[in-house]
Amino acid sequence: MTNTPAHLAGNFAPVTEELTAHDLPVTGAIPPELSGWYLRNGPNPHDAASGHWFFGDGMVHGVRLEGGRATSYRNRWVRTSAFAHGAPLRDEEGNVDLTAGRANTHVVRHAGRTLALIESSFPYELDLRKGHELDTVGPHDFGGRLATPMTAHPKSCPDTGELHFFGYGGREAPYLTYHRADAAGELTISRPVDVPAHTMMHDFHLTAAHVVFMDLPVVFDEERARSRQGMPYTWRPDHGARLGVLRRDDPYGAVRWLPIEPCYVFHALNAYDESDADGERIVLHVIRYPRLFTDERDERGERARPALWRWTVDLTRGTVREEQLDDQPCEFPRIDDRLAGHSARYGHVTVAGSPEAGPAAGELLRYDLGTGSVARHTFGPGRVPAEAAFAPADDRPGGPGWLLTYVYDAATDRSDLVILDADDLAAPPVAAIHLPQRVPYGFHGNWLADH
Ligand SMILES: [Fe+2]
Repeated sequence: MTNTPAHLAGNFAPVTEELTAHDLPVTGAIPPELSGWYLRNGPNPHDAASGHWFFGDGMVHGVRLEGGRATSYRNRWVRTSAFAHGAPLRDEEGNVDLTAGRANTHVVRHAGRTLALIESSFPYELDLRKGHELDTVGPHDFGGRLATPMTAHPKSCPDTGELHFFGYGGREAPYLTYHRADAAGELTISRPVDVPAHTMMHDFHLTAAHVVFMDLPVVFDEERARSRQGMPYTWRPDHGARLGVLRRDDPYGAVRWLPIEPCYVFHALNAYDESDADGERIVLHVIRYPRLFTDERDERGERARPALWRWTVDLTRGTVREEQLDDQPCEFPRIDDRLAGHSARYGHVTVAGSPEAGPAAGELLRYDLGTGSVARHTFGPGRVPAEAAFAPADDRPGGPGWLLTYVYDAATDRSDLVILDADDLAAPPVAAIHLPQRVPYGFHGNWLADH
């Protein structure tokens, strides 16, 4: 009797083959407006073992859509130095090799480059040229200028074309560095940010005028790091929690820290600035966990579950209002990225069921942040969606479009790329593209339109 850990069982288990398939079968009709690649990254340990879900080698699954057809599917490991020859991120002497991450968390495009990302290390560039699709080009360190890891959640500014990001970690200060690349892909700003400790910092926020960091009480744990099993962090509410606000027009200026209740946030939905006679504010929507990496239960005996919250940072008074907007457990928040940093009306999240519960029926939700109403698509028993990326139907930000997500079907042990009409979420899928193999549960991706 084998005892497979949950993060390697069922559809968490890695696939073993890299496939290429053409002209995929489709139920429904692929919108002919969709021309480009849907790419999604996730952990897929090539030795079929890893100590934690977050540690597997990155594998990108991609589907190309063109002229109303799904012209191809490919899945490829990212050939990091860790994948290719087992290079350790940190050797016995403590030397760090920033090319030796697993590149398993996200895939984004900036300045013509497609980058596979993980927060421990450098991004890896992927090829999308015909005949080389999803081949690994190599690590990308911005021409030697990047000297820290890069978050897997960089933010593209739709107004300037800049890419804002940060790197964090290490045994000594600075534990946090803020970076900015211009629209041409040149790294123009790298500055340390003073924080009291190395905390796990998965995401941050960008508005038209501000950058907001989250220093939350999931603190680096040297002992756990040495064991090389599990995540090297501990829930330490005594560390406190704070948001750090930096003005974009004063990138080397002071970061203003404002305390919040201890919690954890993997993912930000969106952030924007707001001002009126009452003052200046930053509004942040997040998927907030009351605590993380602890078995502690709340007063009703329940586990910590993530839900949609709004934080309103009052820059005039120096306070933060924290409000829970819904109690539906969810993750993977996404918007129409053309509205990033501005007030976006709609936020999309995934309800996938817990790994412990097995392949429960999953849903995609579309929150109307203006009215508080919610639309939902239910995939049916045993069908589990992943993060959904928004693909626009035209050039109006906030206008019509589709949600694209991989859906795993436990009954067939296969996956589909499902396309939903974002404005009519409850309707049957516009199209379901049947893939030649299942896509293991993974993390993040993007719709990369040709134009
Ligand atoms: Fe993430």
